[in-house]
Amino acid sequence: MKALILSGGKGTRLRPLTYTGAKQLVPVANKPILWYGIEEMVAAGIKDIGIIISPETGAEVRNKTGNGDRFNANITYILQEQPAGLAHAVKVALPFLGDSPFLMYLGDNLIQQGDLSYFLQEFNQQQPDALILLRQVSNPSAFGVAKVDDTGRVLQLIEKPKEPPSNLALVGVYFFSPIIHDAIAAIQPSARGELEITDAIQSLIDWQKQVVACNLDGWWLDTGKKDDLLEANRLILDTYLTKSIVGDVDTNSQIIGRVQIGANSQIINCTIRGPVVIGSGCHLENCFIGPYSSIANNTTLIDTDLEHSVVLEGAKIIGIHDRIIDSVIGYRAQLTVAPRRPKALRFLIGDDCQIELT
Ligand code: G1P
Repeated sequence: MKALILSGGKGTRLRPLTYTGAKQLVPVANKPILWYGIEEMVAAGIKDIGIIISPETGAEVRNKTGNGDRFNANITYILQEQPAGLAHAVKVALPFLGDSPFLMYLGDNLIQQGDLSYFLQEFNQQQPDALILLRQVSNPSAFGVAKVDDTGRVLQLIEKPKEPPSNLALVGVYFFSPIIHDAIAAIQPSARGELEITDAIQSLIDWQKQVVACNLDGWWLDTGKKDDLLEANRLILDTYLTKSIVGDVDTNSQIIGRVQIGANSQIINCTIRGPVVIGSGCHLENCFIGPYSSIANNTTLIDTDLEHSVVLEGAKIIGIHDRIIDSVIGYRAQLTVAPRRPKALRFLIGDDCQIELT
């Protein structure tokens, strides 16, 4: 069993963060989203992992993630020159996949820990031609959608339907036998010009092949948007964070609950109420940091009140007197108060940023 992770794409829904980097490397609880998937695969016993990369962000994904040693896996990078669809990515990966069954995993998806092992076991026991995961959602038009009969048999799969036949979305995690390559060879590009994996699985259904659908009961997040990213951050901190304080905390500070503080970070006169993760090399002074916040390495926060937010590497927040909530602050972004006159707001805001002032 091999795994193929798709880590290309433009990440338009997560702009502006994705102007400067891959969406799969945006951190959740200070760890790139992509790495959670890799760790889950290794835990399920799949160590031969191919990662599909794009010309735009491929080097960054490769440099950050490496050859797999850090995960006890063997990672092969596969360049997909054009974003021509998920099924196209499988086509490009054929030399890597060979005739092995494989797990296909969209690199910006997160599913609950342990679920992958469970579904792999189902796949190995039932030995179907494909195993797909379905999850009820409130906005099925944003996904691939399945029509199933009363017995749970999959009748039809449709990519992003305007009038969805059900509220069962295809989760971005699929198990395939090598017959999927024949199905991919038989499909044509969709209306949006892509070779859709959904259409290839539909071909398997049309050919009376065995396509098994399993319901995913654990959580699933497609982290492509800001609110999903914050929700993923909340869930990961809530579920997995353990207390560990390595950096320096002065005697005027109060650390409450599950809080992690990395090496060479200084916490001066702060109240930090977990779950909160703070990376290494950070400087926090006169701050309140509330639950569900992730603060990346080398950030500076002074006179700041923040909760349920993600602060990315190198950001600076100084002297903002209103509480910051439900926010994602980008790499090296600066939010400060200037003593200059006239007293006014001054911005240098990048494309596609969202600012809400009271
Ligand atoms: C892709 C698939 C879709 C699936 C979704 C899950 O869509 O095409 O069928 O439901 O992932 O995340 P995308 O998010 O790439 O638009």
